[in-house]
Amino acid sequence: MTGPLLFKDIDTPGLAGLDTYRRVGGYATVLAVLGRQTPDQCIEIVKASGLRGRGGAGFPTGLKWSFVPKGTERPKYLVCNADESEPGTFKDRELIEKNPHSLIEGMILAGWAIQSNAGYVYLRGEFGWLQKILDQAIAEAYAAGLLGRDVAGTGFRFDLHTHLGAGAYICGEETALLSSLEGYRGQPRLKPPFPAVEGLYRCPTIVNNVETLVNIPHILGQGAAWYRQWGTEKSAGTKVFSVSGPVKRPGNYELPLGVPLRVLLEEHCGGMRDGLKLKAVIPGGSSVPPLPASLLDTPLDFESMNAVGTFLGSGGVIVIDEQTCMVDSLWNLMRFYAHESCGKCTPCREGTYWMTGILERLERGQGRASDIDLLADLADNILGRSFCPLGDAAAMPVQGFLKHFRAEFEHHVGQRCLANRRRDSRMGVPA
Ligand SMILES: Cc1cc2nc3c(=O)[nH]c(=O)nc-3n(C[C@H](O)[C@H](O)[C@H](O)COP(=O)(O)O)c2cc1C
Ligand code: SF4
Repeated sequence: MTGPLLFKDIDTPGLAGLDTYRRVGGYATVLAVLGRQTPDQCIEIVKASGLRGRGGAGFPTGLKWSFVPKGTERPKYLVCNADESEPGTFKDRELIEKNPHSLIEGMILAGWAIQSNAGYVYLRGEFGWLQKILDQAIAEAYAAGLLGRDVAGTGFRFDLHTHLGAGAYICGEETALLSSLEGYRGQPRLKPPFPAVEGLYRCPTIVNNVETLVNIPHILGQGAAWYRQWGTEKSAGTKVFSVSGPVKRPGNYELPLGVPLRVLLEEHCGGMRDGLKLKAVIPGGSSVPPLPASLLDTPLDFESMNAVGTFLGSGGVIVIDEQTCMVDSLWNLMRFYAHESCGKCTPCREGTYWMTGILERLERGQGRASDIDLLADLADNILGRSFCPLGDAAAMPVQGFLKHFRAEFEHHVGQRCLANRRRDSRMGVPA
């Protein structure tokens, strides 16, 4: 895989080691920026670059950094969100596995910009193998004087630690992540106060996604205008899209924001495999509404996705073919949300449970005609009424599936669909 920026050198043999990383220009930005550019200058460059968070919400990164209070006596923390729990998303793991030093460099620079002396990388519980790779790279950086009390001889102190969660989707939500990092149960906290003001140990904390941070050395090294050669006015830069499903070449693709969905799937992923026809695409990880095949020419950027009723989200592009049942697909997704709901608030805890039940009976051909409106009503009542965005993440796909594929749900009332009968016969399940 290649890409113009983050994936440019990704397949260079030995890139995970310090020597190779330095050979391709690694840590040059740390040497050029630390002690030479002020933290405020760095924040202004990141603001001017137009970089928006790659964790899902797309919040402007430089603006978030500027919310960290100045002149406070309290420690400030930088936390990298490497939970990568959104179904369909697998970009951060490739970035860390193959290029761990780029994350370390991004974190040193972000730490300098917000004047934090301590960073944490929070990895999901299943990423024990990635933690080893990252710890090894961190040890190399300490040995080379790039981390610790005197980063690159500049007098700036920056320590970096990794932390493994226990494998819960909700721990990707930034406030639940901070609770988990502190050793508490991973449940979301009320916002405001936002973490930038009151985060880890109630101190100012910036939480950023892996891909966001890996962009920083490029932006501070080459400048905002250079970075803006990719992407659109409001969605600057590149994005790593994780493509899964029945395409010929699934995987991670780093492309300029604004690339049409069709170009990603047909030119880069080689189109559908085995003569299958595309039915739908979930463009931003499982939490966003799907798009029907008729909207394949929509550009992949924050604004264009919103204009067609969905979101760019995490960039996890899930492809669904004509032979796949949408009721079954949504039931599958809803089981995930019901299982991962942390249980703190009623709309999400109860709503995901009830929506799962309704989808199960529809899928089994035991649904009632009123079930479809009931499903829509439940989703409408969860959206905007949950304590954290996980509730919305469960409700929005339901609304999108019903908007574009209602006929399939109606077909399921009192009968099973051809796709399910085909699947059952393949698996030897009696009719
Ligand atoms: C249920 C849920 C799961 C999330 N999972 C992740 C995740 O795995 N990785 C991530 O970076 N952000 C995740 N987020 C978004 C974070 O809360 C936060 O917005 C993000 O880490 C901020 O980083 P950014 O500004 O660099 O995007 C999740 C949000 C929710 C509501
Ligand atoms: S919406 Fe409520 S129950 Fe669901 S994960 Fe968030 S806080 Fe927990």
